[in-house]
Amino acid sequence: MGAVSAVRLRSDLHARISSARARTDELFGIVREEAMYDRPIAERHRIIFYVGHVEAFDWNLLAQRAFGLKSFHPSFDKLFAFGIDPVGGGLPTDEPADWPARDEVERYSQNLRGELDRAIERALQRPSEGHPQLVEMLEVAVEHRLMHAETLAYMLHRLPVEKKIPDKKEPVWKTPRAKSHMVEIPAGRATLGLHRAKGDEFGWDNEFEAHEASVPEFAIENYNVTNRDFMAFVQAGGYSTASLWSAEAWAWKKKEDVQYPAFWRRAGNLWLYRTMFGEMHIPLDWPVYVSHAEANAYAKWMGRKLPTEEQYHRAAYGTSDPDVERSYPWGDEAPSERYGNFDFAHWDPSPVGSYPRGASAYGVHDLVGNGWEWTRSEFKPFAGFSAMPFYPGYSANFFDGKHYVMKGGSPRTAACMLRRSFRNWFQPHYPFVYATFRCVED
Ligand SMILES: [Fe+2]
Repeated sequence: MGAVSAVRLRSDLHARISSARARTDELFGIVREEAMYDRPIAERHRIIFYVGHVEAFDWNLLAQRAFGLKSFHPSFDKLFAFGIDPVGGGLPTDEPADWPARDEVERYSQNLRGELDRAIERALQRPSEGHPQLVEMLEVAVEHRLMHAETLAYMLHRLPVEKKIPDKKEPVWKTPRAKSHMVEIPAGRATLGLHRAKGDEFGWDNEFEAHEASVPEFAIENYNVTNRDFMAFVQAGGYSTASLWSAEAWAWKKKEDVQYPAFWRRAGNLWLYRTMFGEMHIPLDWPVYVSHAEANAYAKWMGRKLPTEEQYHRAAYGTSDPDVERSYPWGDEAPSERYGNFDFAHWDPSPVGSYPRGASAYGVHDLVGNGWEWTRSEFKPFAGFSAMPFYPGYSANFFDGKHYVMKGGSPRTAACMLRRSFRNWFQPHYPFVYATFRCVED
């Protein structure tokens, strides 16, 4: 990396930490005080945990390792260290009174930010004397927090409306309704991952090493599957047809009594939709948000499949020139609000096809933004994977054959994580993710 870009990157980094903090502050700001100790999702911690966690994570990562700072509150560092994601395990049973008072947590956060800010400022002035991986660790801090800004939105989505303070008016979309069709993607190559040797772009451990895949021709839907499309599946009895579901998915569906997407609600003859700040008649042209298991059942019902991770890359970044792959579906320009529904511009999806300028070279819409795209690829390491020494479990804890890759991004995905190599993943039975899908024929 050249000296100029190194300096720019360093000053950027401190500013990016501050703006990432503003994102999580904004998010906790929509929760009414009396709901801070609620647990909107049974498998997750109470909200108050995450208020402490996004701070304690930074402290645990950086304070000792990068700056040699001594803990001023070891019990909070530990209490707020780790989130939970039980796969088929027991649910947490703690009570609100088991957690510290809000003002104690706030005081902890204020002190911690102050100490870290002073240390970061000093270290960025004299990078040669600091920890050799300081820049990478700061990137980890930024993206970890921004990921929580997204996954916390999934959680707060489940919090009853009266416990939230509406942020701003959501737009009324005037997207013309368009019918979906299959787009032929010719055989070609796709570059997955990041080159370690190039070295001036941050990536998580699972993004390395870069490699090429050669992808046979296939066809993919130009739009995401919408609530309208998915309604046909629900009404055709898709949720009561065992042959469309894997044995594990069927067992999950029965146990949880899942009969339609978690973002929908049935009121008599009416179908309602839960947006972040209220309910509305089901928006039929929005992409359907569903778990992997539900997406897979729909695809099977259609006689189609979910795309592989490699097919996603071809549809999103491939061009008619076999030597040219784009950085984003729309080209090489940085993400902006012209190109898609992402980077916190909205709380909820937009109708499919609302961002024609963001379409890929092959005319496939909304591949980045408006909901993560499920793939049928299990989350696995690329050849040449090695875990980050200062965050060894980030990916490695999930290479268990029980998680699937998601690509693209949602309305609440930060711009920095819309890079081509970024890989997200979830277990197939978690229904609250901002994840949608489209089908392929191959
Ligand atoms: Fe975390």
